[in-house]
Amino acid sequence: MKINYSPPKVPDEDNYSLRPACIVPQTKAEGLDQLAFVWDDSYQLGIPVLDEQHRTIASNLNSLSYLIRVGRSESIIEATLNTLDQCMRIHFSTEEEILEAAAFPGLKEHRAAHQAFSRQIQDRLASGSGTTTADGILRFLIDWWPRHITSEDRAFVAHLTQGKESWE
Ligand SMILES: [Fe+2]
Ligand SMILES: [Fe+2]
Repeated sequence: MKINYSPPKVPDEDNYSLRPACIVPQTKAEGLDQLAFVWDDSYQLGIPVLDEQHRTIASNLNSLSYLIRVGRSESIIEATLNTLDQCMRIHFSTEEEILEAAAFPGLKEHRAAHQAFSRQIQDRLASGSGTTTADGILRFLIDWWPRHITSEDRAFVAHLTQGKESWE
């Protein structure tokens, strides 16, 4: 099966705030030891395209957390949140496309979990804006997303890897 994956579109390459993966703290002084989400091997599914997207989302979460913590402007925080939202949407559609092509029997439930999550985000975005809303979404994501990867996502790995030598 051929999987078409395009990285998330960045609307304005000149605006560093829209490249959140580049602003994850790099040193302890910048807050590297305060990352909101620390990636480790337990999150690895062994399906490269999905692992890459999961890691991108992790970077975006950490960027958003960092920008909120250092008190950056609402416009930068909203732009970063917007990028994170785009990454999640792209990821969900990639994952669902893969599950559909592989005739994963739990696709309906998995899609419903993604949709329920997306509704939560949309409801929060509709009822507020700025740093407070972004902080609420960040906390919700940090709670929901690792659990989703390690339980619901992990549940489809055996089905996808059966008889497959590589998911490159
Ligand atoms: Fe998922
Ligand atoms: Fe996922």
